[in-house]
Amino acid sequence: MEAKVTAHGRFTIAEIDKRLYGSFLEHLGRAVYTGIHEPGHPTADANGMRRDVIDLVRELDTPICRYPGGNFVSAYNWEDGIGPQDQRPTRLDLAWRTSESNQVGIHEYAAWAEAANTEMMLAINLGSRGLDEARAFVEYVNHPGGTYWSDLRRQNGQADPWGVKVWCLGNEMDGPWQVGHKSAEEYGHLANETAKALRAFDKSLELIVCGSSHSNMPTYPQWEASVLEATYDQVDYISLHMYFENHEKNTAEFLALPEKLDKYIGTVSGVIDYVKAKKRSKRDVKISFDEWNVWYHEREEDARRMAEWDWPHAPRLLEDIYNFEDVLQVGCILNTFIRRSDVVSIACIAQLVNVIAPIMTEPGGISWRQTIYYPFKFASAHGRGTALRLDVDCPTYDADVASNVKYLDIAGVHDGDAGTLSFFAINRNGAETMDVTLGLEGFGAAKSVEHTLIKHDDLEARNTLSAPMTVVPEAGNGAKIEGNGLRLTLPPYSYSMVRVML
Ligand code: AHR
Repeated sequence: MEAKVTAHGRFTIAEIDKRLYGSFLEHLGRAVYTGIHEPGHPTADANGMRRDVIDLVRELDTPICRYPGGNFVSAYNWEDGIGPQDQRPTRLDLAWRTSESNQVGIHEYAAWAEAANTEMMLAINLGSRGLDEARAFVEYVNHPGGTYWSDLRRQNGQADPWGVKVWCLGNEMDGPWQVGHKSAEEYGHLANETAKALRAFDKSLELIVCGSSHSNMPTYPQWEASVLEATYDQVDYISLHMYFENHEKNTAEFLALPEKLDKYIGTVSGVIDYVKAKKRSKRDVKISFDEWNVWYHEREEDARRMAEWDWPHAPRLLEDIYNFEDVLQVGCILNTFIRRSDVVSIACIAQLVNVIAPIMTEPGGISWRQTIYYPFKFASAHGRGTALRLDVDCPTYDADVASNVKYLDIAGVHDGDAGTLSFFAINRNGAETMDVTLGLEGFGAAKSVEHTLIKHDDLEARNTLSAPMTVVPEAGNGAKIEGNGLRLTLPPYSYSMVRVML
């Protein structure tokens, strides 16, 4: 199968916001307890945080990390997580039917985020609570001192404010499953008033209002229109979520789902433009795609177990073990975000550790990289710079979710400072090798090229506790400089990163 791709130095999409490679940690299952936090672990630091996990997060290089939820946040009292740890209350977490010990709160998370080299992105409870608790939390976190909340923070051991910039105004407030679920009108009003109060404190905060939980929600996309009409002047981003499932074990359909993601982003971008025009506004609102991932492997079994259990603390929950097929999917999702980086500024893989996550841990034992760790790591490391608008000509197939799905999914990024071009390419055809002629125009001559390949004969191959290195990247030999560009050979069902030194 043949494909022709052209990249031109002047044919660009946008400067990529590095927060496109954000992540998410929720008080859910073992994400926090025995995920990042395990005081008795041989690698634990003074904060009780696993150093082996911090090292893997640093290697993944995720510039921002959303916390503490997720559905959890909608019945969370942030004050439960401050002060002496032995005096913190244990509470019921209504979202996941578990017990929350509050041994990790904002202080522990902040110290972890600094160690893991990631910026905090904090979510406010607008489900069971409201404006008053939100303004107290922001004052606690960001005010230098001399007030009740800021002095309490100082008393609790943190003299300097953390200066958190990015705040989520609730989570998935359109979802009937959410504690404190609201109509678009109710939520829009509350979010707007909360945003006004937070802006009165600091107008430079970056505020994210909830969009739809997914594009199959019955209220989508009217929810976005109503919420933005109520909040447009006060917010910077609208949040979207999407999880990718393959219950039918149909790889072609599964790998076509990023087309649905692309349409979802396009539609919401249109709604943003509509509200902006209607309001005669000059400000821009962008998309924060702050939950995305493959999530289906353990989903039904988890729902069954959850319905039966008796409020356990940090149980195994949502621990999907990813396979090689998911590498291809995550590669296509990240490519979609790069191609939509003109409207998507922030995106967060959901989640980071143990819970539908690229990193897994065993209590008292090792931590390891899931298969999906690698495409994320490569995009985060080399997908920064200017997104290129590639011209792609290749055979297509028709799927239920979209017609004319290109067998070659490719995104390109030019880093002018480093003098590199990076291409991320997925061959969505399982039967044929893809021979790609990639023309490079307007960049100057290519000096050298490197190919990194992820390929496994078994789409179901997984990295597990006993075999953590089953699916790993390897040096490929499928990229050659040829004439004014490259010739790429991409094996059937494969992920490739091709880097050109200019
Ligand atoms: O990431 C898991 C859950 O998915 C989050 O708590 C929620 O926001 C979403 O429905």
